[in-house]
Amino acid sequence: MRSLLFVPADGGAKLDKALASGADAVILDLEDSVAPERKADAREAALAFLQRARAMGRRPRLLVRVNGLDTGLTDADLDAVVPAQPDAVLIPKAEGGASVTKIDTKLSLREADAGLPPGGIKILAQSVESAAGLFLAGTFRDCSRRLIGLTWGPEDLAAELGAEANRDSDGKLTEPYRIARALCLFGAAAAGVPAIETIHVDFRNLDALRRDTEIARRDGFTGRLAIHPAQIPIINEVFTPTAAQIAQAEAIVAAFAAQPNAGTVGIDGKMYDRPHLLRAQRLLANVKS
Ligand code: COA
Ligand code: MG
Repeated sequence: MRSLLFVPADGGAKLDKALASGADAVILDLEDSVAPERKADAREAALAFLQRARAMGRRPRLLVRVNGLDTGLTDADLDAVVPAQPDAVLIPKAEGGASVTKIDTKLSLREADAGLPPGGIKILAQSVESAAGLFLAGTFRDCSRRLIGLTWGPEDLAAELGAEANRDSDGKLTEPYRIARALCLFGAAAAGVPAIETIHVDFRNLDALRRDTEIARRDGFTGRLAIHPAQIPIINEVFTPTAAQIAQAEAIVAAFAAQPNAGTVGIDGKMYDRPHLLRAQRLLANVKS
């Protein structure tokens, strides 16, 4: 998934706009963008929308961001949306693999109740949104077969730290949040799942979005959260490998397949070893997913 567009679940007409945005995934938000007194309405709206959108032929993946485990709202969120079989749930403020395992259990019970195939609903986790979560970033490996990725966000962490800002006057993340971002990348790699870059808040500045998203790709992120439809074409473009990159990856995979015992291969006068093979396989896997 290259682009994942947030839309408040009680966002009315925005829901259909999100579907038509070209995003690889739409995330119906039940958490921070929905006021406490609107949660029940938002759950109903999410259910109705999921039922309608799932019936479409070609559609983006459908995710729901539930409220965090410490809110007391997660169970009611899952009760409401699981029967409509979202493709995945996004867990905010996940504190390590244990949070994911808890949600996995909750999903299993509800899938069984609803007569849905076990394990069908996947999990994406927002991994370093609290100080405690930051120290558990390395614990996602093997926590659940449902886990399909890790993402992160600096806003809640800044609130918890009592920080005045999380970016400097040039818009660059300050040190504590650069560490959090790196830990999301390391945690995802250690768990063997994709890392998804956080939102770009300044949604009118598309040039800055492109620059920042290119940096995310350089560092190893394979997709990005979005908050506005205008961000989607740019994110998709940045995370779509060029035809030349795909051809090169295919050539590397083919060369190793032809010489299964080789540690290195030569293609067009250049040496490639196992790390190159791994990178090529990853690139091709991302193209397919
Ligand atoms: N999904 C779908 N459609 C959206 C959208 C989104 N996330 N954000 C904006 N749009 C629509 C608007 O409804 C508007 O439609 P219209 O032309 O028919 O009126 C159009 O795109 C242009 O929107 P614009 O006027 O530029 O922005 P806005 O001021 O209406 O909305 C936000 C700004 C930030 C409130 C809005 O982008 C939003 O709700 N984003 C998602 C917030 C969210 O879910 N946050 C939680 C995760 S951090
Ligand atoms: Mg948050």
